[in-house]
Amino acid sequence: MTSRTEPAASQLAPSAAMPAKPAYGANRQIHRRLRSILSLADFEAAAKSVLPRPIFGYIAGAAEDEKSLAANRTAFDAVRFRPKVLVDVSGRSQATELFGKRYASPFGIAPVGISAIAAYRGDVVLAQTAQEERIPAIMSGTSLIPMEAVHAAAPDTWFQAYLPGDATRRDALIERIDAAGFATLVLTVDIPVWANRENNVRTGFSLPLRPSLRLAFDGASRPRWLAGTFARTLLESGMPHFENSFATRGAPILSASAIRDTTGRDHLSWTDIERIRQRWRGNLVIKGILHKSDAERAVALGADGIIVSNHGGRQLDGAVEPLAVLPDICESVAHKTAVMMDSGIRRGGDVLKALALGARFVFLGRPFVYAAAVGGGEGVRHAITLLRDEVDRNMAMLGAQTLTDVNNSVVI
Ligand code: FNR
Repeated sequence: MTSRTEPAASQLAPSAAMPAKPAYGANRQIHRRLRSILSLADFEAAAKSVLPRPIFGYIAGAAEDEKSLAANRTAFDAVRFRPKVLVDVSGRSQATELFGKRYASPFGIAPVGISAIAAYRGDVVLAQTAQEERIPAIMSGTSLIPMEAVHAAAPDTWFQAYLPGDATRRDALIERIDAAGFATLVLTVDIPVWANRENNVRTGFSLPLRPSLRLAFDGASRPRWLAGTFARTLLESGMPHFENSFATRGAPILSASAIRDTTGRDHLSWTDIERIRQRWRGNLVIKGILHKSDAERAVALGADGIIVSNHGGRQLDGAVEPLAVLPDICESVAHKTAVMMDSGIRRGGDVLKALALGARFVFLGRPFVYAAAVGGGEGVRHAITLLRDEVDRNMAMLGAQTLTDVNNSVVI
């Protein structure tokens, strides 16, 4: 539900002079490094020059021929706005409510694995900045900082898990997430097996990373990353490990011999979700839904929300772009559960198109990790502000006072 009663602080007090409403970030000091970054797309180019080739490739890439990755973007071109004019939008607000919490914007940070290898203490930076900016961040289970530390730094963070194949490990992980204090658990269910990501082979990326001359060369060619992220992490906390895949610590990120334990998940089924629903008392969100019947199943099992997602094109290449199936899924379950969406959102206009087609909330993955790599917390704040400004401007031009005005009457 949206509300006009609680605009973001920087959104207050529109004056009679033009522009009627200053941009959210209008009076903010922007770090020199970020001044040339005018849109989320600019972060990608900047991150490419900061990150070693295998790490940039790991983030940017997708499965096989990257058809779903491309379609995630072009899907937004097919939806066009039908603005309503001469509506008094001077008191507009993009604030919204989800799981009983009020957020300043209808978008959040999707879970991105090993973000602490792309940005110094990436998981904490993303979670803390999101909390300061009053949007949700979902911490990935494939992460290098213990979940307890991230929760302590930003208690509103959601936790994402890939379910271990083994039931005992599964239960122990859920207990740990609960004990850490997370209120929202996101189960990502579109990984029965690992995807075929040829781009990782080509750039020399693997998990764990295998030490090699090539990797050393790639790292050395990005001195800012080498000193500011990798060496700093090693010096301060030692070799990063997969901290949160199980109830106990997993393999190190850089090792010639370690095998990351990703015990088979291809036998997991809805029965396992049912069991978790019985054990997990917090909000349960199922991520990676594209089929209406799966959405209905998730709701029937008691999911509090679903994220319609093709994993940013990183799993089944050719999987439909979420925007295309969103209206159908929303028609079926949006009155019973929070339907959220990710994959391909890069502009405030994209956020509004997804909302107009029925999504309650959206998430972005790659742009925020690029932002953290380029500018740490300030980079993430800049990314949030850019997107928030775009949403705000476009709401005004659409004639939308609140997000309830952003419905299918404003799109074709
Ligand atoms: C991801 N994604 C992801 N999802 C998840 O549930 N757990 C994870 O650990 C990861 N890891 C991950 C790493 C990287 C590098 C990327 C780019 C993505 C998927 C992510 O949560 C989200 O679904 C997509 O990123 C959304 O697409 P966009 O916004 O990147 O286009």
